[in-house]
Amino acid sequence: MAKLWDARFSKAENGRVNDFNSSISFDSRLFREDIAGSIAHATMLGRCGIIEVAEAEKIVDGLGGILRDLESGALTIDPEAEDIHMFVEEVLTKRIGDTGKRLHTARSRNDQVALDIRLYLRREIGEIRALLKELLKTLTDIAEQNADAVMPGYTHLQRAQPVTFGHYMLAYAQMFLRDTERLGQIYDRTNISPLGSGALASTTYPIDRALVAELLAMDGVTENSMDGVSDRDFLAELIFALSLVMTHLSRFSEEIILWCSSEFSFIELDDAFSTGSSIMPQKKNPDIAELVRGKTGRVYGDLTTILTALKGIPLAYNKDMQEDKEAVFDAIDTAKLCIELFTAMIGSMTVKTARLREAASGGFINATDCADYLVKKGLPFRDAYRVSGRLVAYCIENKTDFESLPLDVYRNFSPLFDEGIYDAVNLDNCVNRRTVYGGPSHDSVMRQIALVRSKIG
Ligand code: ARG
Repeated sequence: MAKLWDARFSKAENGRVNDFNSSISFDSRLFREDIAGSIAHATMLGRCGIIEVAEAEKIVDGLGGILRDLESGALTIDPEAEDIHMFVEEVLTKRIGDTGKRLHTARSRNDQVALDIRLYLRREIGEIRALLKELLKTLTDIAEQNADAVMPGYTHLQRAQPVTFGHYMLAYAQMFLRDTERLGQIYDRTNISPLGSGALASTTYPIDRALVAELLAMDGVTENSMDGVSDRDFLAELIFALSLVMTHLSRFSEEIILWCSSEFSFIELDDAFSTGSSIMPQKKNPDIAELVRGKTGRVYGDLTTILTALKGIPLAYNKDMQEDKEAVFDAIDTAKLCIELFTAMIGSMTVKTARLREAASGGFINATDCADYLVKKGLPFRDAYRVSGRLVAYCIENKTDFESLPLDVYRNFSPLFDEGIYDAVNLDNCVNRRTVYGGPSHDSVMRQIALVRSKIG
């Protein structure tokens, strides 16, 4: 295809340069946004008297036809085109003739692509937030079913203090809630129109930037034309937000992988979300969780790609910026897939509550509660802590635990012990007396569930 800029050049482009320069193989996914942006631009050109209203209408109709044909498959994208913007404009001119050539009045591909990517990310952010809400809904359902399922909480992967499986799920819910909110803030910074920035110095035509923004349901227009065409902060922020989503999913995946090992055996994954081994007939592997953990690295790679691509480019547009797309598309595709599969995986898992309680019973996770009991009897915490520590050592040596230790043995360690100690070290009590705001008690878990649900609407 002859190049648009043939007039200025005396030689045709080198074939490999053409391929190297082209972005159509990946930016064709912007076709809807490109057409929507062009429809808004042409409408504005007509209303501002920059082109005839009839011409604007012809352009809008032509673009509508291209959209329909691309959606239906009647029109296929030419892999030889330089990018989606050139392709749409070329098809338009072919279809409606010279009027098509008026579309690019008062516009550059630089502000055009900046608009398209903002519109595209706006849509994707909406979809990602919807997927996160599904995940949050699933988490609150699991939390509700397991609000009283006592289990050990860990620090250093050593049994620490009793919590419930419900409380555990809600810790992750908080992370995904923050992710959802963060994405909402990024949406707000993304949904601003750069159109009218032109190549970098805006334009001399009497355009109406606010009208274009309004037609596209955007919340405003960018403030500086040079920033308008070269800002990709919203895109970098999005990949960062997705990196953090992946961090959360990856930590959770690590727990899932541990929990379905025979050593923990806290959960069982549904067969539909597990895989077998080609050689070991007994195996049931948590591949989904492992892949989510593995794909986290990919998204971090995308973040590094965009930050590195941006860090050395002078104002305003430079072709380096074309590299933003594959990175952000990959981050979006990967994160969406992971959120969706992870949600289905945990939504179908079985929580082994008896086994959770067994693990909670074996590790002296009520030792702090034993110390707190003595504190309530008047002993300073540091002294109580030592008594409880000596009791743990005694129990380990004698292969017993706080729940089974006879009262006279307790009293050998401190005369402050009485029958009330059994009530104090009872695991359900240990959990339910942690009524502090944000704690694991039944009521606190229920309050957290209600809060998360109210936020996801
Ligand atoms: N394909 C280009 C990109 O993705 C579009 C903008 C091209 N602008 C230019 N001045 N060459 O960034």
